[in-house]
Amino acid sequence: MIIHDQIKFLTDEINHLRSDGKKLGLVPTMGALHDGHLSLVKHSFRDNDLTAVSIFVNPIQFNNREDLKKYPGDLQKDLEKLGKILRQNDLVFTPDVNEMYRDPVTHIFDFGNLNKVMEGKYRKGHFNGVAIIVSKLLEIFQPDKAYFGQKDFQQLVIIKSLVKQLDLPVTIVSCPIVREHDGLAMSSRNVLLLEKQRKEAALIPETLFSAVQKSKSLSVKELKRWVIKRINNNPELRVEYFEIVDNIELFPIKSWEEKKEKYGCIAVNVGTVRLIDNVKFPE
Ligand code: PAJ
Repeated sequence: MIIHDQIKFLTDEINHLRSDGKKLGLVPTMGALHDGHLSLVKHSFRDNDLTAVSIFVNPIQFNNREDLKKYPGDLQKDLEKLGKILRQNDLVFTPDVNEMYRDPVTHIFDFGNLNKVMEGKYRKGHFNGVAIIVSKLLEIFQPDKAYFGQKDFQQLVIIKSLVKQLDLPVTIVSCPIVREHDGLAMSSRNVLLLEKQRKEAALIPETLFSAVQKSKSLSVKELKRWVIKRINNNPELRVEYFEIVDNIELFPIKSWEEKKEKYGCIAVNVGTVRLIDNVKFPE
């Protein structure tokens, strides 16, 4: 693998490697890599000749200073993990903040309702920060395809909208959620959980999967109440929101017949650690 931390050297390298029309896949990450991230890399291997992974903890997408401060990261460990799977000409980009934000960023995107619900509502400015860094990375790498996880369902919908708004010539590939043995969605933040919290957090996916079964007999309103109550009954867990939305506009649905493709999205505070997850409801 080839590692760069400067845009100039990286783009020279990319131009050189792609001179004979090789296809490039990009996997943007904030590091603290786990098997969820690595699954995106493997998806890219299948579709492209070259794969690039970016590792950059993007400060402008953190609406909470403490969250940024405690965000886990160990670049050496990440490089070791990537070293085991990346091939000779695959790329890793590890810029610092000055490299990515030489000039002040002021751009404000308009994502309409997509940014008004769920994460957009509770983490003000978060998706604008995500959109800025992702558009910069797409501009730098000019990949044929870029890979994102369904774990961050709303982020994925917003990035698809971003690419459409900017007419970027890239295909956004959505990859399934990778889970731990007990069902908890893999997340860089999971390492911040205390042992007891980590155990109790399995109630989140367990409740989401049960909710899919319950949707056959309960109304949307009853089901939402059932999910929130079941999780909040555990003293370690506090639901911030649980919404059932369509996959295009992210409008909260009121009846099961309303939309074909719908997802139940949840954010839960486990002590001071905030976890998100989602599940698809049958059409
Ligand atoms: P990060 O949280 O590091 O996630 C990087 C990518 O990995 C995202 O596309 C995310 O959805 C995916 N991912 C995380 N956990 C996953 C899991 N359990 N299964 C499948 N995919 C998973 O998301 C970000 O970084 C940032 O917002 C970023 C897009 C890099 C912009 O800064």
